[in-house]
Amino acid sequence: MKEQIETIQADALAAVAAATDERSLDDARVAFLGKKGSLTLASAGMKDLPNDQKPIMGQALNVARTAITQAIDEKKAALEAEADKKSVEGIDLTLPGRELLQGGLHPLTLVKDRAVSILRRMGFALADGPEIETEYHCFDALNTPDDHPARNEKDTFYFDSGKLLRTHTSSVQIRTMEKASAPVRIIAPGSAYRRDEIDATHLSVFNQLEGLYVDKDVKLGDLKGTLEYFLRAMFGTDTEVRFRPHFFPFTEPSFEIDVKLHVKGQEPKWIEVAGCGMVDPAVFSSVSDQRKDDAFDPENVTGFAFGMGIDRLAMIQYGIKDIRLLIENDARFLQQFA
Ligand code: DAH
Repeated sequence: MKEQIETIQADALAAVAAATDERSLDDARVAFLGKKGSLTLASAGMKDLPNDQKPIMGQALNVARTAITQAIDEKKAALEAEADKKSVEGIDLTLPGRELLQGGLHPLTLVKDRAVSILRRMGFALADGPEIETEYHCFDALNTPDDHPARNEKDTFYFDSGKLLRTHTSSVQIRTMEKASAPVRIIAPGSAYRRDEIDATHLSVFNQLEGLYVDKDVKLGDLKGTLEYFLRAMFGTDTEVRFRPHFFPFTEPSFEIDVKLHVKGQEPKWIEVAGCGMVDPAVFSSVSDQRKDDAFDPENVTGFAFGMGIDRLAMIQYGIKDIRLLIENDARFLQQFA
């Protein structure tokens, strides 16, 4: 019987060695170690042996089983390694990978996000309103007379319905005060539209950021401090800021704000970055008429408002000479900001 086991072991090892794939290897395993495999049957014969033979045969069976199992495991690993090798045949694993193009934020988004984050830290919350506006929200409620040039068909995109593409984000001031109650402290970034001739400094669609702060006792000093702080956070702590008297229908007094721009190799110069002023009581009166309450009674509240061009801020920040670059989507231009 010992010889029989040795023969089975030799046959099994030969079958394993001859296996060329996982399937033939498994067939060999079943033929020798399976339920009806020859080694399994031989073990079953043990019980008929005389007692003194049993330990010897038991040991021989163990040796055979261990040897066959080990051979199968090794063969299996060898077959797998071979398959792995085949699967990368002809592929140069040392070649550098293909570069994945990485996206980046548009310069307008970068500037807008920064402006919004500074103002949010100062307590302003985001607000918005429709881009297709009524004349009322865009002009009348903002104390803009019928004969104001901004209301001209030549300057503004009107729809047949009488609605228009908002010419500024100031309409969000009205939209907000119609719903909220004082104190109001909001900013509204968004698009504005004008029938401008397109050139290096004008587009017919551009981006503004509006701000409004209304409460009891808001003063001109609050306006000045807030906007100086904001502009220094945007352009650097030693940025010079200047308020020039101006006129806007919806604020009184009104100002244009300039910052002094220093460009290497050039004389420093003042550039306008925003309009602002103390909310005209006539604006509060319009809102109050509409709301039919005294939440924004000009006797009780005061406020300041400001509006700036985001495209313009981006042009200053990055030294962009032509506003059209901001909408052309030329990757060579945009890559600089990624
Ligand atoms: N709406 C003005 C414009 O488009 C900018 C502006 C000026 C907004 C003064 C304001 C403001 O809120 O107080 O030119």
